[in-house]
Amino acid sequence: MSNVKGLKCISCGSEYAVEGMQYLCEKCGGNLDVVYDYGAISSHLTRESLAQDGNYSVWRYWDLLPLSDRSNIMPLRIGWTPLYRAERLEKELGLKSLYLKDDGRNPSASFKDRASSVAICKALELGFSVIAGASTGNAASSTACLCASLGISPTIFVPKTAPQAKVAQLLVFGAKVYAVEGSYDDAFDLCTEACREYGWYNRNTGYNPYTREGKKTVSYEICEQLGWKVPDTVLVPVGDGNIFSGVWKGFKDLKAVGLIDRFPRLIAIQSDRSSAVVDAVLGDGIIRPVNATTIADSISVDLPRDGVAAVKAVKESGGTGILVSDEDILQAIVTIARGAGIFAEPAGAAAYAGLKKMREEGGISDDETVICLVTGNGLKDVKSAIKVAGEPIIIKPTLDAFMEQA
Ligand SMILES: Cc1ncc(COP(=O)(O)O)c(C=O)c1O
Ligand SMILES: [Zn+2]
Repeated sequence: MSNVKGLKCISCGSEYAVEGMQYLCEKCGGNLDVVYDYGAISSHLTRESLAQDGNYSVWRYWDLLPLSDRSNIMPLRIGWTPLYRAERLEKELGLKSLYLKDDGRNPSASFKDRASSVAICKALELGFSVIAGASTGNAASSTACLCASLGISPTIFVPKTAPQAKVAQLLVFGAKVYAVEGSYDDAFDLCTEACREYGWYNRNTGYNPYTREGKKTVSYEICEQLGWKVPDTVLVPVGDGNIFSGVWKGFKDLKAVGLIDRFPRLIAIQSDRSSAVVDAVLGDGIIRPVNATTIADSISVDLPRDGVAAVKAVKESGGTGILVSDEDILQAIVTIARGAGIFAEPAGAAAYAGLKKMREEGGISDDETVICLVTGNGLKDVKSAIKVAGEPIIIKPTLDAFMEQA
């Protein structure tokens, strides 16, 4: 039995019972949020019960997930990714306490596995036979990976320009792949139309209310891994804004069930070449589409599909938004790699780029406990990394040649 009470529109507050699959608010078209019976959950989910749970994955938080059938759980380890203390980067930035959450360590090498795990389980629980999704690349490769572990082939729409490694993942995992001649936003719209036409399950980010429910587990892990200490500041790379709204939901859930007693502030990081959410945060709060051109493909989004919830989360948490340049993002790939041994794709390094900028501008004080989400592995986009990693020394295979170089 799940602990879900219903769905609530993030924009107008309309409430709905959970019956079958509902994507958006029928009244205003806003995104939906899953509402839980926190009283029932808090009676048995405690720090002690979690300490005794040997399941180190997203599923250890089952009571806070919108699912009722455990038989669809994938045989892969999703979540409970390492939270590394980054001591050398602390010194570089003059910070007392900095942690990197390495979500590139998930099965398909990105944060998106958290979302896919819950969204796919939901589809199977509801009896859908075709699962479809559009993505900048990671949500798709994650869907393909997790579906493959269950013997399912999803239908995927990605922009034709998606990095080769992500497309390779899709094909290797046996998805039916449509490379759309257009942007991520075009792929998103085509997927939504196809799902409507054929009655397929639509896993699209910022449309399907269950992706946020998987993403929120990162906040549970951060608090548990810190021994239930709540960090002061969490920096999150933002595309559609769904990771961001998920991170905030996670902290709100924990407070609602009495597992934590305060909140961190959340900082939204975007490239200045894909800035719709941060523009809204720093402006009048209204999301307006941009023409996204950032090198960080995973956060290259014209119209953020969960932007309203993300802007709300920034405000509620007392956070802000920071724009970084693509050059800052590329530099952060190298800094994190050499400073902490973690190889991030551009979007995965963006939070650190934002942290550096915030420190320079005095937006974070020395004694804060800071978390940067590293959301995707660098092997997903080596083309970008190579731009800043430097060149190897080309050498003839003789000792003389070597000694000349050395
Ligand atoms: C590596 C990585 N980081 C960040 C994001 C941004 O997540 P969201 O679109 O939910 O804001 C994505 C989304 O694809 C991603 O793949
Ligand atoms: Zn509504």
